[in-house]
Amino acid sequence: MLVKRKGITVSRLIMDDQLLHPGATGELTGLLNDLVVAGKIISAEVNMAGLADILGQSGKTNIQGETVQKLDVFANQTIKRRMEQCGYVCVMASEEEDEVIPVLEGYEGEYTIAFDPLDGSSNIDVNVSIGTIFSIHKRVSEPGYAGEEDLLQKGTEQVAAGYIIYGSSTVMVYTTGSGVHGFTLDPSVGEFFLSHPNITIPEICPYYSVNEAYSEHWFDSTRNFIAHLKKEEDGRGYSLRYIGSLVADFHRNLVKGGIFLYPRDKKSPEKSEGKLRLLYEAAPMAMIVEQAGGRAITDDGRRILDIKPTSLHQRVPLIIGSKKEVDLAERFFSSSSE
Ligand code: AHG
Ligand code: MN
Ligand code: MN
Repeated sequence: MLVKRKGITVSRLIMDDQLLHPGATGELTGLLNDLVVAGKIISAEVNMAGLADILGQSGKTNIQGETVQKLDVFANQTIKRRMEQCGYVCVMASEEEDEVIPVLEGYEGEYTIAFDPLDGSSNIDVNVSIGTIFSIHKRVSEPGYAGEEDLLQKGTEQVAAGYIIYGSSTVMVYTTGSGVHGFTLDPSVGEFFLSHPNITIPEICPYYSVNEAYSEHWFDSTRNFIAHLKKEEDGRGYSLRYIGSLVADFHRNLVKGGIFLYPRDKKSPEKSEGKLRLLYEAAPMAMIVEQAGGRAITDDGRRILDIKPTSLHQRVPLIIGSKKEVDLAERFFSSSSE
């Protein structure tokens, strides 16, 4: 029983997860633990970033003797370095790299990872929460033939998904399909401790989260839905909260209840499918929210987890959060003519 035990670390729970699957090889356990290490390294750098800027430390070098880099480049390098030599991954995809990323020769493993190394980059230098998002699949290719087909799998095929949010504290939230758990980093000991056992997204939904600056370009379905939320017809008042980091907006909604929308819009062709990427933003968040009792759909009513990706950086409209509000949104989007 989770709640009776105290001081559970994320590594302990990852191991407990493995024990739930008698046939487990321990590879997923190893992969997740290496991700935890990456999260700790990125968290330390994120918390130093402001300092480095303020003190104008030029040419600050890290333990690898490299000069300090922009945080999203640093985060990307950190995760790649961990994953390419862990022996559990056969191929990777990162928001920061156009093509698939191979692992080191002789270190091919049974899983793939797609990740957004630093989500919410526009908020890095204004001290607003940012995060890392990851999605893990079992490979489908034969040994030695890892490639895009291992990454372009439906969200329903994910074996694990999660994020690490670097905010007032660093919190890691993940699921392997048996519920959602959150762990808070205690920097004084360098351990993530269970802080949010068995997360379920609240049914009561106080927040809606959408970038209203684009409302002139929304399709009628989006406009009508947001207008309905404002009318409080069914007596439910909502507040608008929009941070501009998916991880932060999603985490708030997961903990307090809420609905987040990044719909397509009519103005910008590059946003004809919305802005967020299926592989390493929408699909992992969709697995988490469904495991927590919520829903994740597109603005034409498709379930995010059912979408078969056709390219690494494919964008998808995203409506995600508390079930009742996503159900309501679905009625608006399916009834609208456009
Ligand atoms: P990233 O920083 O990884 O590119 O992601 C930014 C995304 C997402 O985090 C956020 O929800 C969205 O961009 C905000 O976009 P707008 O500024 O267009 O609202
Ligand atoms: Mn992102
Ligand atoms: Mn990013």
